[in-house]
Amino acid sequence: MDVRPAHGRGQGIADEGGWGRVKAGEGEGGWGRVSGAAGPGAADQAAEFFGESYGAEPEGVWHAPGRVNLIGEHTDYNEGFVLPFALSQGVRAAASRREDGMLGLRSRQAPDAPATMPLRTLAPGSVTGWAAYPAGAAWAVTEAGLPIGGTSIAIDADLERGAALSSSAALECATALALTELHGLSVPRPELAAIACRAENEFAGIPTGIMDQSASLLCQAGHALLLDCRSGKTRDVPLDLPAAGLVLLVIDTRLRHALSDGRYAARRRACEEAARVLGVRVLRDVTDPGAADSIADPVLRRRARHVITENSRVLATVSLLQAGDIAGCGPLLSASHRSLRDDFEISWPQADTAVDAAVAAGALGARMTGGGFGGSIIALAEARGSMDVRASVRDAFARQGWPGPGFLEALPSAGAWRLR
Ligand code: GLA
Repeated sequence: MDVRPAHGRGQGIADEGGWGRVKAGEGEGGWGRVSGAAGPGAADQAAEFFGESYGAEPEGVWHAPGRVNLIGEHTDYNEGFVLPFALSQGVRAAASRREDGMLGLRSRQAPDAPATMPLRTLAPGSVTGWAAYPAGAAWAVTEAGLPIGGTSIAIDADLERGAALSSSAALECATALALTELHGLSVPRPELAAIACRAENEFAGIPTGIMDQSASLLCQAGHALLLDCRSGKTRDVPLDLPAAGLVLLVIDTRLRHALSDGRYAARRRACEEAARVLGVRVLRDVTDPGAADSIADPVLRRRARHVITENSRVLATVSLLQAGDIAGCGPLLSASHRSLRDDFEISWPQADTAVDAAVAAGALGARMTGGGFGGSIIALAEARGSMDVRASVRDAFARQGWPGPGFLEALPSAGAWRLR
């Protein structure tokens, strides 16, 4: 059974999963389990794990994807613009209702850390580790006044954790969607994204913006999602890479990051401080890049300059994509990377090396993606040149003695939906 969502998400997605397109070979560090991403195989695997965990068939299986942020980094919590797209890889939540008011949580990726707790005792700080994300989603759903009851959930995923592809947001979104739909509640997607974000902010305690959860729940296949983080307005922006003869490589630099280590929060505080110095409520209110020059503190000046220029790069990228010029976006991606490296100072050596090596081998543009300090870069390349880009990055890493990078050809996919 394939229960397609009423709101139309999921249409057009390659049901055989993006893994059919993954050319990462053995020895390149394949990306997670090489199996159908969000297709029937993935649903079966999640259901099978539910059976192993709870001894029964699940009532349903839901999928929420990870995301790649094409451009618009650290702009979301400044009420600016972001342009992510959903991957075909993501997180599955197989779930069934239960009578005892408990929330059961199991993950195939964390077999040693099952968790079961009464739904009504959930409170920020009460659950730690991986289970904080799905427990937080249940808490946030309840806090929103949505009546859910006891539920058993089994999680299965094919998304690398710590690779800056929003595995935690996918986990929150899969859980929130499963819980609401399983209990007969239809929640508008933007509201569900806000609920999932609240799980991350208040339950897991990480002060992220709304981008990742919005991407996981709102994206359309073949499109990136322009999100105005002030108004909440969205626009689907065409991103048909194969038709343009292009690929967007996600290159996992293997350096792991954690948004919880304080550096992300420090950048957010710096932006708030820069806005205060400039006399505006948030940096979104500033559009003139020259305005940052008036900030005396050199660090705050650089942070503000990044956010102001990044917002305009997002809008320039959207204009090019609307005009069908995907290749033309390359220089904007590279400019974004330089800004994140020099002004926002959240890049890391493996990312800089990978970006330089990709561009040297002919990539049209490349940048780190996500919160920074580790994870992945993206490189936009002509399909026929993509093997050269891979080889160049692989060789550059070998010269440094770093573990080999992982490669994934990203395919803009649909936001979350019920698999069965
Ligand atoms: C992380 C956060 C997002 C966003 C990005 C940086 O992915 O979860 O909200 O701030 O970093 O653009």
